[in-house]
Amino acid sequence: MDESEATVEPGFAYQLQEMIYQGAEAKVTKCQWLGKPCMIKERLSKGYRHPTLNSRLNKLRLKQEIRGMYKARELGIETPAVYFIDTDRELVVMEWIDGPTAKAWISTQSETLGEEEYDEKMRIFGRVLGLNIGRLHRGGLIHGDLTTSNIILKAGNAEKATFIDFGLSSQGKVTAEEKGVDLYVLGRAIVSTHKRSQALLRGLMEGYQEADGKQFEAVEKKLNEIKLRGRKRDMIG
Ligand SMILES: Nc1ncnc2c1ncn2[C@@H]1O[C@H](COP(=O)(O)OP(=O)(O)O)[C@@H](O)[C@H]1O
Ligand SMILES: [Mg+2]
Repeated sequence: MDESEATVEPGFAYQLQEMIYQGAEAKVTKCQWLGKPCMIKERLSKGYRHPTLNSRLNKLRLKQEIRGMYKARELGIETPAVYFIDTDRELVVMEWIDGPTAKAWISTQSETLGEEEYDEKMRIFGRVLGLNIGRLHRGGLIHGDLTTSNIILKAGNAEKATFIDFGLSSQGKVTAEEKGVDLYVLGRAIVSTHKRSQALLRGLMEGYQEADGKQFEAVEKKLNEIKLRGRKRDMIG
């Protein structure tokens, strides 16, 4: 029996399926629970950290993840439904989103489309992302770990961007600086993962502007400052 099998409440019939992902922080296992496809995300303990600190950090991340998903949902942003939370075992069972990650989807597009067609598609997709992120930010939610691996396209539909992995999210009174950093992190992730990224980045900012013009102005200014700081840092090494 898989170790995680014993950790979910007994009495609910569910079947573990394949392990999807094992990173440094968490293990994701696909499962079938109450007849629905879902996944279990378990936070892992790091050997070099004291167990008490591990547990405290894991519980904090789980709490931030659930709070972030709740808030995103409230703001009308697609995110998986939460089915079950076990705070003692630091795990969550959530809806399985069927579709590629944005990262996988973008790679497929770049392999199958000509450059012009690809750029056009990326610009449209960038707008979808920007609009959604602009709405998150306007609602006072910072994702905290925006990458193309933390966005899933439901059924491969570029209009259906579902945001996951809110473990580093923060909310409340969020500043333009924090919003700028959120966008900066995504921009860096895009440039480092995907070869042609200009159209996607342009679309991203267009969509962000569409969500809220005033917010866009303030955040764009911060973003330019952050980029400048980043470049200076890179030059100094
Ligand atoms: N609800 C979900 N439905 C389908 N796949 C998911 C879901 N949540 C996560 N995944 C897959 O598992 C990977 C890791 O999950 P994630 O929550 O991002 O964990 P981590 O915090 O370790 O990055 C994602 O990049 C995605 O491929
Ligand atoms: Mg992730």
